[in-house]
Amino acid sequence: MEYIFSLEFIYIIASVTYILGLKMLGHPETARKGNLIAAAGMTLAILGTIFLYKGEHVNSTIYILIAVAILIGTIIGWMIAKKVAMTKMPELVSLFNGMGGASAALIGLIEFHHYTGDKLSVFTIIAGMVIGSISFSGSMVAWAKLNGTMNKPIRLPKYNILNNVFFLLILAFAAYVILSGSDSQLYIYLLFFAALAYGILFVIPIGGADMPVVISLLNSFTGLAAAFGGFLYGNMVMLTGGILVGSAGTILTFAMCKAMNRPLSNVIFGAFGEGAVAAGTGSTIKGSIKEASASDVAILMNYAKKVIIVPGYGLAVAQAQHAIHELEQLLESKGVEVKYAIHPVAGRMPGHMNVLLAETNVEYDKLAEMDDVNPEFQSTDVVFVVGANDVVNPAAHNDPTSPIYGMPILDVENAKQIIINKRSMKPGYAGIENELFYNNKASMLFGDAKKMIQALINELKNM
Ligand code: TAP
Repeated sequence: MEYIFSLEFIYIIASVTYILGLKMLGHPETARKGNLIAAAGMTLAILGTIFLYKGEHVNSTIYILIAVAILIGTIIGWMIAKKVAMTKMPELVSLFNGMGGASAALIGLIEFHHYTGDKLSVFTIIAGMVIGSISFSGSMVAWAKLNGTMNKPIRLPKYNILNNVFFLLILAFAAYVILSGSDSQLYIYLLFFAALAYGILFVIPIGGADMPVVISLLNSFTGLAAAFGGFLYGNMVMLTGGILVGSAGTILTFAMCKAMNRPLSNVIFGAFGEGAVAAGTGSTIKGSIKEASASDVAILMNYAKKVIIVPGYGLAVAQAQHAIHELEQLLESKGVEVKYAIHPVAGRMPGHMNVLLAETNVEYDKLAEMDDVNPEFQSTDVVFVVGANDVVNPAAHNDPTSPIYGMPILDVENAKQIIINKRSMKPGYAGIENELFYNNKASMLFGDAKKMIQALINELKNM
């Protein structure tokens, strides 16, 4: 019985909930529950640590400080998370991730002088502090880029070389501090500020649209920094949590790069999507586009046997998820088979389309993943591309000079009719033109996604 109320036991339970929660996040049907389970485990670990940890410094003042800090943090976190729009989620993640990095850095700052002389502990402290500081300042820059405060990449001359040299200097100085056994607080502050500066220099040259990948990378840094903290304190739940965040962030970073067919180095050092096509400069693709009205499209859909909807970033911008679900239900009531084709990097964050559609309670078996749905386009009467662009751009197959060449795409070209809804001929995230719009089976339905879907619903209801 005594063991059940021990901190070790609570930590084991919490660690299991993290692993379970992470596993459940892998599927839209279980993701919500997984999130709650892991959050419950985290609450258990925090409460267990507060009430069961028996350290020499524990006194009533500490409890008051902890309670006040938890109260402030909970209120701020709750209010921000409650208000945030789905399209702003990457911003929120970067902000929260930055706080994790800052916490890891602060552990290093306050613990350094407690451990001088013990080289392994000093190494652990410095590693956690440097990585945490980079993650903190990098995440803050990422946040500023995503919310538009910092709207242009800043590239100093030879920034790649300079950044690498600066990073090597930080490593060399860190090695000196560890090996010299110095207890100088000045050294640790120097390292702290140098790591903060490196975090800024690392992220400022990267284009704003690549921020989701960068945030995922910084997220893995924060996990690693927390794991060093757990190792230092011999705190198993912190170590497990840190390792899980570190590895999940790394896997996610590489999964995103793979789905975009871009090496990580291209995300960090490339200038993706910039200046490829300046909007409104005219097309370099030969041919002309066809325009369709809502009533033309409604007729096509009304008489179709099978319609596949391809949602993209524009659906999230227009907040058209409820409208598209209504359209899907209306078509089904008319005997049309409807599915959603989900590209792994549609939108701006992993699982963006799944999360968006889950909000409207779309049945999960209607969401088809790219590899499963691609062979189905051939037997599809109408494919309805809503606010998606790059993920259906055939240049990924046909144009070796294209920045997205090699990226797997949804083969919507194979469908009998292709309807593309967007507001203009402007390019998407990659900044390139899309020859799909000029395909002779394609018609453009110009306008805001929500408005146009609503117009389609009205037309269909009158048929
Ligand atoms: P995009 O290629 O960015 O295209 C979105 C399209 O939506 C734009 O062409 C835009 O055209 C249209 N749009 C915007 N607002 C709209 C509205 N209110 N109503 C209707 N249409 C609207 O999106 P995608 O096809 O989803 O591809 C995602 C891109 O993001 C990929 O290149 C991917 O590599 C990249 N990316 C994704 C992630 C993750 S993890 N998902 C992370 C980093 C980068 P108009 O302006 O003409 O309307």
